[in-house]
Amino acid sequence: MEDIQFNQLGTIKELFIYFLIAASIILGLVAFFTAYYSWKYRKRKDDEQEPEQIHDNKKLEFSLIAVALSLVTLFFVLTINGMNKIQDIPEDPHPDILITGHQWWWEAEYSEDGLITANEIHVPTGKELIIQFNSDDVIHSWWVPAIGRKMDLVPGVDNYLSVKVEKEGIYWGSCSEFCGAQHGWMRIRLIAHSPEDFERWKRRQLEPKQRLDEELFKKGEQLFSSKACTSCHAISPTASIPAVGPNLANFGSRKYFLSNIKLNTEINLKAWLRDPGKVKSSAKMPDMLLDEDQIAALTHYLENLK
Ligand code: CUA
Repeated sequence: MEDIQFNQLGTIKELFIYFLIAASIILGLVAFFTAYYSWKYRKRKDDEQEPEQIHDNKKLEFSLIAVALSLVTLFFVLTINGMNKIQDIPEDPHPDILITGHQWWWEAEYSEDGLITANEIHVPTGKELIIQFNSDDVIHSWWVPAIGRKMDLVPGVDNYLSVKVEKEGIYWGSCSEFCGAQHGWMRIRLIAHSPEDFERWKRRQLEPKQRLDEELFKKGEQLFSSKACTSCHAISPTASIPAVGPNLANFGSRKYFLSNIKLNTEINLKAWLRDPGKVKSSAKMPDMLLDEDQIAALTHYLENLK
């Protein structure tokens, strides 16, 4: 299990380079001979009749097939080898994070303490993490190119990926399997913290919050339950159900919302609550028919959940 993430990217890169070299040589040869023979056997002024037409050359044809076949075999073996190298998951994996794909958002559950987040995925650096993937509806595919390979999220199937992020920072990725109208906007924002910061982040997410005691917040909170928001969105950081829509615990601490396509600002959130279909077509969030006062209260409430 040593340095799998490094191996993963290294192996993929290595394979890519081999393919690139072979493809470039073949392309070069084909282009060269096409140009050279077109020039060498070009039509000349004193050419009076068609040159002699040659049909087959069994020897040449068979040797070309043999060359192509051995190249394909070589690359087949290299690829299988590479796949085995990066598929290093223990028999009975204990995932650190469970990621569930939804149309069209990501749900992450941290198995150690049951913390649940949506769309923003936080990880500690320097630790070999096992991520388990599943889907709630259709097939999605996880891909954060800078930290490793792709992994499909298939309903009813558990897939695993081991990931080790070395450097702190923010890594972007996206869904890479067509999953419906908003597939292109199913962004991943992975935030890698130092182990201490990661623990701090988790603690902050889980600690009971001092709720604002002012009127607008209270009104928003009350609207949130009475407007049936709670039938799709969990609001507690450890509640996985209902996962129809993203868990909104600590919503105010997220930088983006709507699967990381909109900056989490008051203006954007208000526009979304006013008419979800206009902001993100085919979104599953219905128009709640809110008036401006209700929108202001809900926005204030959500932005202060942090
Ligand atoms: Cu989810 Cu494409």
